[in-house]
Amino acid sequence: MTEIQLNKVLKAYGDVEVIHGIDLHVNSGQFVVFVGPSGCGKSTLLRIIAGLENVTGGEVVIDGAVVNNVTASERGLAMVFQSYALYPHMTVYKNMAFGLENSKMQRSEIDARVREAADMLQITPYLNRRPKALSGGQRQRVAIGRAIVRDPKAFLFDEPLSNLDAELRVAMRKELAALHNKLGGTMIYVTHDQVEAMTLADVIVVLNAGRVEQQGTPLELYNRPENTFVAGFIGSPRMNLMEASVVMGDDGGLDLMAGGTHRIALPPVSGLSPGDNVTFGIRPEHLEIVDADRADMSATVDLTEQLGGETYLFCTPEGLPQITVHQLGQFPVSEGERVHLRLKREVLHLFGEDGKVIANGVPEPEAANGAA
Ligand SMILES: Nc1ncnc2c1ncn2[C@@H]1O[C@H](COP(=O)(O)OP(=O)(O)O)[C@@H](O)[C@H]1O
Ligand SMILES: [Mg+2]
Repeated sequence: MTEIQLNKVLKAYGDVEVIHGIDLHVNSGQFVVFVGPSGCGKSTLLRIIAGLENVTGGEVVIDGAVVNNVTASERGLAMVFQSYALYPHMTVYKNMAFGLENSKMQRSEIDARVREAADMLQITPYLNRRPKALSGGQRQRVAIGRAIVRDPKAFLFDEPLSNLDAELRVAMRKELAALHNKLGGTMIYVTHDQVEAMTLADVIVVLNAGRVEQQGTPLELYNRPENTFVAGFIGSPRMNLMEASVVMGDDGGLDLMAGGTHRIALPPVSGLSPGDNVTFGIRPEHLEIVDADRADMSATVDLTEQLGGETYLFCTPEGLPQITVHQLGQFPVSEGERVHLRLKREVLHLFGEDGKVIANGVPEPEAANGAA
């Protein structure tokens, strides 16, 4: 079992710093996912852990030992890339066995490992084929098999599913989760796909521009985003984020004024005063369609997506950007129609001008009109 730690890791290419001092602790057996937009430093960080890049500052620690000066091959980690880089002239069997044959391992041991990995990945029928006679998903399994046979201290995956079509990605995602359960090893997995991150991770690390924005379990990030970046990044479709100013309400509480006309009553919230400018966030599933007298805002429906089991409404409240509303089941509404929306307060997110969270959920305000 393997623990991996980063202490104040810095990385610059020439005089351009791309990783700005990252601290991270990956526990033994954990499945950790690095997620973030393209160019935020995910691959660089993974390559630093693998030993394929030197750090400009800070420490990489594996099982308590600083490995900054230990070569990639001596670190004993296995990396699986998006481009699987199989040897085209070798069979699947040979592709998996090749790395071990270069060590001094017994032939019988190599054979046992290749067959066990092939069995686990359901590629036994293809062991004698060459990579070009395999589908993309099968090739990616061979690349994973090649990592498994090495019995590495940890697995490092860099967007391993990005080249696969949507259906196969979903299937492989489930297989990777099952594989982690079976192997129990430490895994670090890089993706820009937040659904992959949500479904696979014990811990998600959200990266942005070479910094960690937040780390936590998938639901911690979903329920309690610490800033607008994480709020907007985690969740599909995205959280609706809107600007508002804080004004005194009629009832001693506070109101958010958004888009000039929308007044959203709040209870007193600590850290919030009249005159503040805030961003408020509400997820598509936390907007209720209600009668006009209970509504916080109304909006014009631009587009609907009827998926049968659920409905998405894309609608624009006056003076605000388009928002997404999720309704379970089938919801008959036409484009151009007005809908009245209520924000569930217990899942309303408030962020300050600096983008940092003020509250992830507030109590329902005292209902003035008997509505709850
Ligand atoms: N060899 C390199 N030389 C210069 N800049 C690089 C090099 N590799 C990556 N970068 C830069 O470092 C940043 C992070 O890149 P990368 O880790 O590949 O991002 P990600 O994997 O999150 O898409 C990007 O701005 C990229 O342009
Ligand atoms: Mg990358």
